[in-house]
Amino acid sequence: MPAPETPGAMGVHLDPGALARQMADDVRDGLARSPKVLPPKYFYDGRGSELFDQITRLPEYYPTRTERAILETQARAVAAAAGAETLLELGSGTSEKTRLLLEAMTEAGTLRRFVPFDVDPVVLEEASLAVHTDFPGLAVEPEVGDFEKHLGELPRHPRTAVAFLGSTIGNLDPDQRRSFLAGVRGVLGEDGCFLLGTDLVKPVERLERAYDDAAGVTAAFNQNVLHVINRSLGADFDVDAFAHRAVWVPEHEWVEMRLESLREQTVRLEALDLEVRFAAGEQMRTEISTKFRREGVEAELAAAGLRVEEWWTDPAGDFALSLSRPA
Ligand code: AVJ
Repeated sequence: MPAPETPGAMGVHLDPGALARQMADDVRDGLARSPKVLPPKYFYDGRGSELFDQITRLPEYYPTRTERAILETQARAVAAAAGAETLLELGSGTSEKTRLLLEAMTEAGTLRRFVPFDVDPVVLEEASLAVHTDFPGLAVEPEVGDFEKHLGELPRHPRTAVAFLGSTIGNLDPDQRRSFLAGVRGVLGEDGCFLLGTDLVKPVERLERAYDDAAGVTAAFNQNVLHVINRSLGADFDVDAFAHRAVWVPEHEWVEMRLESLREQTVRLEALDLEVRFAAGEQMRTEISTKFRREGVEAELAAAGLRVEEWWTDPAGDFALSLSRPA
């Protein structure tokens, strides 16, 4: 049978209208809380994705290059342990690091299908075409959706490896992680496995520098969420009146990114018919980036019915990639 000319039709679980309503609800709820919060998923418009890409190349931001180094060293071991027919990647974005897995799994001779899953249909389309071009024998079946909501709607395939890389799981709080991991357990069936990238606890100086770099790229990335809200919800945030902060919170073992209002100000959000007051010095949380320990990762996976079979790290122990299976 000849290889198909284009990737399979995209499965859509989230249309643009639903995405816009979700954002309006999230922002309304977050700004009503005290302290105020904004969810990190709205960082990634075109500009935000470009800034994140720059972050991954900063000297201070070690997670991306460290995870890539682990994948480069362990790709064969991962492919052998996974024995996957289908690779489902959550929050796949450009699927750049995934290529290492795709190569190793193709070489191992088991892989038949790649299912990239992301909220952004444009990014997904581009990534799918690129993978399809470079891996002509592979069925590429993209799915649009939110990994906190739509895992239950995905088509099920035998021997599926679910990959969730980059320590994106660190953006979720413990309750969100519990329900997310339950969803992952659901798509695995009995013969699947879960490949999870987790950034590990390390000295606070390194962590805070990784989220507050000298060149100010992370600051621009953080402030960009206000541009996204201005555009999407007709708001009038004065972006320069909010300063970037990155703080290690030892009780939770996470880095919090915040935006601090540099003066007293009132912001209008037209689409929400809402006015919100900020005091001078008031901090709004925009992201949590949780850092993990092996015992914690194992316990959370165990609570979801998953047992860790492999634990790969870099020599310095900065980052971990785990492979777990239904217990
Ligand atoms: C893509 C969520 C893993 O938390 O390290 C980078 C995002 N925020 N710098 C992270 C991020 C600030 C990143 N994740």
